[in-house]
Amino acid sequence: MKTSIEPFKIKMVEHIKQTTREERLEYLKEAHYNVFLIRAENILIDFLTDSGTGAMSDQQWAAIMTGDEAYAGSKSFFHFEETVQQITSFKHIIPTHQGRAAERILFEIVLKNKKGQKIPNNTHFDTTRANIEYHDTEAVDLVIPEGKIPECDHPFKGNMDLGKLEEFLDKNHKHVPLGMITITNNSGGGQPVSMENIKETARLYRKYKIPFFIDCCRFAENAYFIKQREKGYGEKTILEIAREMFSYADGCAMSAKKDGMVNIGGFLAMNDDNLAMHARNLLILTEGFPSYGGLAGRDLDAMAVGLQEVLDENYLRYRVRTAEYMGERLLDAGVSIIRPTGGHAVYIDAAAFYPQIPAHQFPGQALVCELYKNGGIRGVEIGSLMFGKTDKITGDMIPASMELVRLAFPRRVYTQSHFDYAIETIIETFKEREKVRGLKITWEAPFLRHFSVHMVPLE
Ligand code: F0G
Repeated sequence: MKTSIEPFKIKMVEHIKQTTREERLEYLKEAHYNVFLIRAENILIDFLTDSGTGAMSDQQWAAIMTGDEAYAGSKSFFHFEETVQQITSFKHIIPTHQGRAAERILFEIVLKNKKGQKIPNNTHFDTTRANIEYHDTEAVDLVIPEGKIPECDHPFKGNMDLGKLEEFLDKNHKHVPLGMITITNNSGGGQPVSMENIKETARLYRKYKIPFFIDCCRFAENAYFIKQREKGYGEKTILEIAREMFSYADGCAMSAKKDGMVNIGGFLAMNDDNLAMHARNLLILTEGFPSYGGLAGRDLDAMAVGLQEVLDENYLRYRVRTAEYMGERLLDAGVSIIRPTGGHAVYIDAAAFYPQIPAHQFPGQALVCELYKNGGIRGVEIGSLMFGKTDKITGDMIPASMELVRLAFPRRVYTQSHFDYAIETIIETFKEREKVRGLKITWEAPFLRHFSVHMVPLE
């Protein structure tokens, strides 16, 4: 049988409020055309992010009830530690409240008091990039060229460009305190990285004695793609594949708000004793004692259960099929998307959707606003609003390499009819594409501007 169904049934429901188009126009204006500033209760289908927005299972809620809230050495911590060790095999498991807390600690210990450093990755996610740049360090993206061409079909579009990485390391290795890879490659479309590529990336980092950390928020989705697409992995379990992926690295930074299937949580894991000692010292300073890291004991239990549940192949099949299904229907209607669809989201090519809007007038943000107006759907721009830079000499904007709108799917939250509704809204919006204009910025913060930016539509 080909059909993939939601591998769960619903035990508790959450009301969603219906709004009219007129109300939404008003909400959007009040939010300065920035959907991060709209109240969530005024959103019908929230595809802003797959981060921390999932539904926990009955087993996770049961684990919440038995959480141990001891300040030090709680039972919940050991449950969590054992689970993470079973999946990653890393020696030191350090809980943090979310992914960027793990990143902040990692970068602070490897970059402190060093200037002019560089950290390569396939593509850094925005918080990772910001945490690196905060230390006057360059965040370098070296994804394969196919990874930047939305319509180019490739089974592992998240792969590192190994030739470029080698060249880069040959030239810069003295200034590279850490090497990374992100699985799946969120900023490039949620695209997977092959096992072969992880292995070769590790070999290059090792050649220059550079510690290798995986940004592993969506490790289970990546493992599922390897199982589906890479020779030799079809018969392996997701756990076996995950264990092999981690075996090539020296550590990882995890936002458990994604494949940890929880609403809050994360961790940093590593083998190096000295690095772990420094990480724990910083953790105590800002997050909490190393056996809770800014979380409640019950959160650690929920994470431990979620990390087991995410390894279920039926779940991953349904998860990946959801994005595929939306992608197929949009392509049939003529909407350009990143192909093939990735694990956690569908990425619409906004530059192709609105060819009349130049990058400096933010075609992605225009589409985000239209989807909200037309159907109460909230997506996020991943283009020049998020990643555009200012040319220091001319003051002009240097656009991002792609103008995308990401519709990211909360885990186990929406049913197929929610997706059908979203698909219809996008197709209707596509039919009306010719009359839409771009936007301009009226206020912005010095970094991560997309979260708080104020904009107005151009006449
Ligand atoms: N790395 C990647 C690849 C991510 O996608 C994210 C978060 C983080 C690190 C940071 O984790 O949010 O727990 O601090 N991505 C979310 C998103 C926010 O919407 O894609 P965090």
